[in-house]
Amino acid sequence: MRTPLIAGNWKMNGDSGFIDELMNGLVSGIKSSAIDVLVCPPAVYLSRVKALTGSSCIAVGAQTVSEYANGAFTGEISLAMLQDLGCTYVILGHSERRSIYGETDSAIAKKFIAAVDAGIKPILCVGETLEEREKGETLNVVARQLNAVVDVAGIERFADAVIAYEPVWAIGTGKTATPEQAQEVHAAIRAEVAKADADMAAKIRILYGGSVNAANAAELFANSDVDGGLVGGASLKVNDFIAICQAANA
Ligand code: PGA
Repeated sequence: MRTPLIAGNWKMNGDSGFIDELMNGLVSGIKSSAIDVLVCPPAVYLSRVKALTGSSCIAVGAQTVSEYANGAFTGEISLAMLQDLGCTYVILGHSERRSIYGETDSAIAKKFIAAVDAGIKPILCVGETLEEREKGETLNVVARQLNAVVDVAGIERFADAVIAYEPVWAIGTGKTATPEQAQEVHAAIRAEVAKADADMAAKIRILYGGSVNAANAAELFANSDVDGGLVGGASLKVNDFIAICQAANA
């Protein structure tokens, strides 16, 4: 049985006051949970958010990380720093990192290896653009993005990893994949993992991301291969994020 995970990707949003209010709301609304709940704030607020989680079950993660251990990498944040702050997850290969900052499959694979080896669980994002979907390339694109990491990191490194299917055309657009579209791609991702390791495929969590909200979460999570969500916009609203967590817990 896979424990659902709901991860909030706050992206580059919020300030101290907003974050205090959001976290206070989440901590009082999510006291204990049968599912895993994670928030990924901007790096400068990781420490603040970690302190605000108190004794709640909410885990804290980062939105990206450097593949290097330390040294002359201006502007970067290391895995050791994330560990130092009590972070347990890191989002890798988000489509905004890929398209705006030019992160390549090979750079993502290096970060993935470094994260796993540091004991931080990676959430590896894959997903097709609208153009790729319209050309019928969706399953090839996600398989290529996944295998670019599997081939370099080795399937063993996926034991504690999470995969997030995020169709680029659904991110921040209000256009969600239908439950059928999500299930089709999630099943294909699981089948791809199974080619390398069937046990791993049965255990690995595959999250859906792309305009998940309080109204559509339940029907997305009802699919057998959808193990939770990576939530952007709706993770900035206390009641919506709590409702999404409840939908995954149903
Ligand atoms: P969205 O973002 O929920 O705002 O579409 C999801 C994501 O980018 O992880």
